[in-house]
Parts: sequence; structure tokens; C-alpha cells
Amino acid sequence: MYHQIGMWDQKWVIGNWKMNGRLQNNNALMHRFRILPTAERVLIGLAAPTVYLLQLHNAMQIVLNNRILTCAQDVSRFPNNGAYTGEVSAEMLADTGTDIVLIGHSERSLYFGEKNEIQRRKMENVLNVGLIPLLCVGESLEEREAGKEHEVIAHQLSVLQGLDTKNIAVAYEPVWAIGTGKVATVEQIADMHAFIYKEILSLCGSDVKIRVLYGGSVKADNAADIFAVPYVDGALVGGASLSYDSFTAIISAAQNA
Ligand code: 13P
Repeated sequence: MYHQIGMWDQKWVIGNWKMNGRLQNNNALMHRFRILPTAERVLIGLAAPTVYLLQLHNAMQIVLNNRILTCAQDVSRFPNNGAYTGEVSAEMLADTGTDIVLIGHSERSLYFGEKNEIQRRKMENVLNVGLIPLLCVGESLEEREAGKEHEVIAHQLSVLQGLDTKNIAVAYEPVWAIGTGKVATVEQIADMHAFIYKEILSLCGSDVKIRVLYGGSVKADNAADIFAVPYVDGALVGGASLSYDSFTAIISAAQNA
């Protein structure tokens, strides 16, 4: 029998639907995933809006050749239960079958003012219930033009220090490349991913398992080039994850990387 390689050695391809999706469209999309050819070298995940996570999780159970992980786009900074109207706790996400939780996406900091302290609380809540946090980091165009990108990313990564885990997943998403069609160059990606690896090792110890995903205008036609960059362990895909054809083309680029 074929033994699948462990998730910390696979390429991760995670679709971030952001605030998109409807019951009927999601079902149609999930139906197509049923016959996706086996991609045993790839960890596939989909991050849907919270109201659709259970639908997605249930639909994943009938996918034939691949396990598709259920990912949440955010989580409450408050654990467990309580008088926090509108919030969804890590326990609730775990209860409804979530595997991975995005933390600190740049859109969360841009529109909701989330910074390190809140991200840290979210990371701890997610780890405490046995789920995997995927910390998103990325510099703005202004910060890059000022030559501050390493300083900014180092500050964002400091959230990881002292966490009770030996498995670290990070997505590097330069803000100026998100939804703009502007991809970071292979040199920029290589430089930053190597930097992020180095930072993680120094913050978390040399015995950690690491995945660093690239995000920002990843499409079917640039995925193979991005996956070929050293220290790129996958992709966090926004717009292109909304279409079955483009998302599965990215998965097959990862499988063949
Ligand atoms: P796009 O792929 O649409 O640029 O979005 C990237 C992203 O923010 C994924 O989290």
C-alpha cells in the first residue's frame, strides 16, 4: 500500500476564498474535487468563510483520491465560550472539523487593526485545541521601498517565540502582491523565504518542522516557477482558488515540483 508522505514534507496548496462563496456554488465546486487525480505530494486545503466550514468539511468526506483539509480564515482571540457576540472560538472550529487556521492575514490587520498581541492570543488558542495555525506575514509596498522588509517580517514573526509547538507554518504574502496581479520576483521570494526560515530556527529552535508558503497573485501560469524557488513549501492562493481549473492546475504544479 502506498504510504503518503507526512504533511510537514508535502507542498501545501491552500485556497483562501476570503469573503466569497455561496452554498450552491460551493457544492458545485466540491463536487468537482471528487475526481481530482491523486496528488500525494501535496497537502490541499480550502479556507472558506466560517458559515461554510461545516458544509465544506462534510463535502470533503466524499472526495475520492485526496484528503482536502478544512481551513478557517480567522478565529477569536477569546478561548472556549463566553459573552463575545459574533465571535467563533478555536474550540468551535475544532468541533466542526477544522484542521488549519489562518492567523494575521494582512487584510485582518488592514481592516481590523490586528497586530502581534492579538495574533499571539489566536495562535495559542488554536494550538491549545490541537489545530494548526498558519501565521501570515508580509510587508507593505511602502515598507519595501524604504528597505524595511526584513525588519518588518522579523517583527511579525516574533509572535512565534516561545510557542508550545515544534511545527511552524507561515505564509509570506507581500501586501503589494495580494490581489494586484503583481507577483514578487523569484529573487525577492528566495531572499525572503530563506530569511523566514532563518528567523524561525532562531526563534523556535533547530528541531522545528517548518512550512513557508508564498502568497500573492499565485496563478496557474506562475505556480511552477514559484514552487521551484528554494524554501518555498507551497502557496496560499486567493483569487485563483475560486476556480476549480486554476486551483487544480496549481495543485498539479505543486505535485510536479
Ligand atoms: P491573491 O492570490 O488573490 O493575490 O490573494 C493572496 C492572498 O491574500 C491569499 O491569502
